[in-house]
Amino acid sequence: MITFFEKSKIFHLETKHTSYVIKLWQGEYPMHVYWGKHVRGGALDWYIESPYRRRERITNARAGTPQFTKEYWPFEYPCYGTSDFRPPAFRSCDENGREVLNPRYASYRILEGKPSLDGLPHVYTEDGDAVQTLEIELVDELSGLRIFLVYNVFEKYDVITRHTRFQGGGGVQNLEIACSMSLDFKQSPKQMLQLSGTALRERHIIRRTLEQGTMSIESTRGISSHQQNPFVALVNDDTTEEQGDAYGINLVYSSSFLASVHLDMYKSARVQIGVNPLNFGWKLGEGEIFTTPEAVLVYSDRGLGEMSRRFHRIYRDRLCRGSYRDKERPVLLNTWEASYFDINYDTVMQYARQAKDLGIELVVVDDGWFGHRDGEDSSLGDWEVNELKFPGGFKRLAEELKEMGLGLGIWVEPEMVSPDSELYRRHPDWCVHIEGYIRTEWRNQLVLDLSRKEVADYVLEQLIHLLDSAEISYVKWDCNRRLTECGSEALGRERQREFHHRYMLGLYYILENLNRRFPNMLFENCASGGGRFDPGMLYYFPQTWASDNSDGYARLKIQYGTSLCYPNVAITAHISDVPNAQLGRTTSLEFREHVCEGFNLGYELNLMHLSEKEKESTKAFISRYHEMSELVRTGDFYRLKSPFKSEEAAWMLLAEDGSKLAVWYFKGQAVGEEAYFGLKLAGLDAEADYVCLEDGRVYGGDTLMNAGLNIPWDGKDYFSCMWRFERQ
Ligand code: GLA
Repeated sequence: MITFFEKSKIFHLETKHTSYVIKLWQGEYPMHVYWGKHVRGGALDWYIESPYRRRERITNARAGTPQFTKEYWPFEYPCYGTSDFRPPAFRSCDENGREVLNPRYASYRILEGKPSLDGLPHVYTEDGDAVQTLEIELVDELSGLRIFLVYNVFEKYDVITRHTRFQGGGGVQNLEIACSMSLDFKQSPKQMLQLSGTALRERHIIRRTLEQGTMSIESTRGISSHQQNPFVALVNDDTTEEQGDAYGINLVYSSSFLASVHLDMYKSARVQIGVNPLNFGWKLGEGEIFTTPEAVLVYSDRGLGEMSRRFHRIYRDRLCRGSYRDKERPVLLNTWEASYFDINYDTVMQYARQAKDLGIELVVVDDGWFGHRDGEDSSLGDWEVNELKFPGGFKRLAEELKEMGLGLGIWVEPEMVSPDSELYRRHPDWCVHIEGYIRTEWRNQLVLDLSRKEVADYVLEQLIHLLDSAEISYVKWDCNRRLTECGSEALGRERQREFHHRYMLGLYYILENLNRRFPNMLFENCASGGGRFDPGMLYYFPQTWASDNSDGYARLKIQYGTSLCYPNVAITAHISDVPNAQLGRTTSLEFREHVCEGFNLGYELNLMHLSEKEKESTKAFISRYHEMSELVRTGDFYRLKSPFKSEEAAWMLLAEDGSKLAVWYFKGQAVGEEAYFGLKLAGLDAEADYVCLEDGRVYGGDTLMNAGLNIPWDGKDYFSCMWRFERQ
């Protein structure tokens, strides 16, 4: 709910458990008053009156007069070039090179529901959702530039989304910085949490203590990146999984971004997230509009666990789309680690027969099926089935798989072009490049310039043609390189800095049209593993390949970190062969099953290599997974032990109605003669009893949460176990 208190000029944005409060200070500037646990907002008037230390300076200075010093005040969307010396939320330069602006409050409106963000992924509403929108309009009198701060309040989900809309005034403005959101904490949390790493090591959790100055994370690669996820959380020293403040901010965007926390001289934090200014610029003519990507804000007073569960619920229900949003996802077999580029009809059919026998539902033909693609060095862009490898094309394959009761999935990498391809020979100018400069190749490939409408349309048409050519029910969309030598001939001299963002708009345009055209297709996102695991992609792909690292032990950290803001059903986890292809490590099949079981399950191995015993246990495991899949799709996730703290990891999934749960425990490397303790569960009803399906014993909820479960560890490396319970 959004309430405006006329007398105090306070906006109170209320979700079920949280409050976000803004005050129009002396009718001039929207100031940040409060974000946190729910309070009665109208009563917060006093809170802002002593924002920072320099009382004598601020009490007498009226907003909008020369005596008013902005750096002492907590702004909702601070500008550049006047008396606020902290990082600005936006900066713009007019035709005369002037960068000073002073936008002041002009109007507000409160709307029912949430208008969509044209061309950009966003959290959406459905009929019956209690969602309201607040738009605060700021105007810079001299230039006529108008800025709309947009807040959407998702009451039931305990989520607020924010973005900013710029509208050009009289002359031309060149936007240089345009954050999606900015917020000044009066009392700053003490630490910043980020999800960092690289390929094969995505989204490891890092917690840093905030000090005076700026701490930031960014991507400059044109993809959200393996290196930094567009997510930050502010937490306190004592914030744990189950208690303490956690402020999570996630950007619904898949390209270069910047997220920063600036601690000023009074240790008050300014947190910001948005498109990375390093790769950004936008020319705004009179009346023209620029809309920033959306940021999702989640506060929890019950630690990181509840913050994650709030992200998970809204992402599952109101960010993911397509018929698979509400459906069980098929257990699939992907051919990549089994065959790499050496794939053909006979091999796929051989895998398929075995897969069917084990209970697998869909076979994905990964890379190598098109053009003359026998390795990494050719054919991207030529999306025609190689009939020598697949006689009769996908039509025949899909029909035969269907007869066996299996679906067909395919791998594509539509943003790319190989220099050795028909497409490149026909259109050498269609790739991203700057004339006269080297065209850096990455995995021997270049990127198509999707900022150009005709190129984006061509890619879209090719895909529609391909997906119409056979009964294909799943698409794995890959992206194996970053943007370099950026610019576009189509943009003209003054708009070159718009390239990065326009590339992403072009990609979103293709993805939106594909989603509309194929609402029953299961789209999976991939970028050399998890290089573009972000909420922007979740809008078009309800699941993402978390990492090209499929080693069970390494996956503990990757999946644990990813779960900070992304739901289990969106995180695909495949059981692969041993020794593991990436790391050479051997873990038991059971260990690998347990690692994947609480997530979106698939297989990525040569099934012929399984022993008869392993085939039997795989069959049993897949049938157990089907019983579990509802829990994976809708359950609440609790992280019980962090693999970032010790060699142990544990997590559990609890049904929304509390009737069922499953718990997984993992031990990594053993040292020898170690003491180990009970595994305490969370989120249960202390008064209720739970029967364990594994041993038939009945445990009290209080016992499970306070004394915990006994771990039957055998003292060896890579041990795991799993329990299921039903509430009595
Ligand atoms: C990327 C993906 C892999 C696989 C290969 C195919 O590396 O992450 O899963 O699809 O491409 O070339």
